[in-house]
Amino acid sequence: MAFYGKLGSFPRKRHIAHKTEPGYRNEGIYYEEVITTAGFGRAYSIAYHLRPPTRVRKVEAAGSLAVEIAEQSVLRHHHLKSAPMKPAGDPITGRVPLMVNTDVALSRCRPVNLQAELYRNACADEILFVHKGSGTLSSLYGVLPFKPFDYIVVPHCTTYRLDFEPGIQSDLLIIEATNHVVIPPRYLNPDGQMRLGAPFAERDLHGPREILVQDREQDTTVVIKDGTRLTRYTLASHPFDVVGWDGFVYPYTFNADDFEPITGTIHQPPPIHQTFEATGFVVCTFAPRLLDTHPEAIKVPYAHSNVQADEVLYYVRGKFGSRRGVEEASFTLHPHGIPHGPHPGTIVASRPVTRTDELAVMVDTMRPLQLTRQAMEMDDPAYPYSWLE
Ligand SMILES: [Fe+2]
Repeated sequence: MAFYGKLGSFPRKRHIAHKTEPGYRNEGIYYEEVITTAGFGRAYSIAYHLRPPTRVRKVEAAGSLAVEIAEQSVLRHHHLKSAPMKPAGDPITGRVPLMVNTDVALSRCRPVNLQAELYRNACADEILFVHKGSGTLSSLYGVLPFKPFDYIVVPHCTTYRLDFEPGIQSDLLIIEATNHVVIPPRYLNPDGQMRLGAPFAERDLHGPREILVQDREQDTTVVIKDGTRLTRYTLASHPFDVVGWDGFVYPYTFNADDFEPITGTIHQPPPIHQTFEATGFVVCTFAPRLLDTHPEAIKVPYAHSNVQADEVLYYVRGKFGSRRGVEEASFTLHPHGIPHGPHPGTIVASRPVTRTDELAVMVDTMRPLQLTRQAMEMDDPAYPYSWLE
């Protein structure tokens, strides 16, 4: 969750009347909706609607999003090249699942159409990493602008619409978290504030900027995803009819270029790049940074045997010093149980280099990831042998 946020109007205490005249059905109030997480146990927000948010005209099946898992008969490294992926669909229907386990699903999306219907993920927080494109995410919390290299963190059950500015092919990496996405607790002091020395701070997180009061008594459809099941709800009025809200649950952005890298005289381990975490995985940002300054430092990462973790890197921008052959929009998957490390020649090549301009997003999972059919279509089968001369 983010920090306390508020926008628009709300009454001076929780659960008292927020008065308006005449109000829906002349009842004289705005209608409170309390959005809680973990039952009533964790962060919540309270929003005030023009009309009750529960008025449903129709509930119907809208199909399923069954993920096609590819058979993997061997344990090996993978290099998936998603750069040639053809644009298709809209910001929701165009999503192509690539790697999944019970905690997290990674997809790519290059939409060509406007989002056809409002969308709500009932079973996952979503992190939408904006590789390319700018625009807005609209929800009951208001209008949230986004730009390239933003992570957009969207809590469970946020009904939303994505709109991109025209002129450039938008491009998203989508990380769906079964549990809640949080700022790493070790970045917070006992008072709940981000510590001095954490690689980002409250000023780097941006919530919705303006409230969006859609006063429309007209049928509006929302496609709700819970797991693989899709359900279409037809609401009797537009759900973005909120005059104000406050609380800790709302979508927000964090730009990868606002990540302040922590560097050392010798190689620092991946947790210094950590940005978010959720049950079963972490997200790290490899941002442009100074390389290690010790005169004998080896400036590319050491070979590493990862036990009980699958490591995914998504390459966003720049030249990637420890890898040969990767390109923008490549993924590497270095799974549990086998070592990986810098490619031959990269240690020597890095000696005179003092900084790196690479930008990459890492997702490290505790449980093994499964690859989808679409992922295997992007796979370079020669990659496991790429450490030979
Ligand atoms: Fe590693």
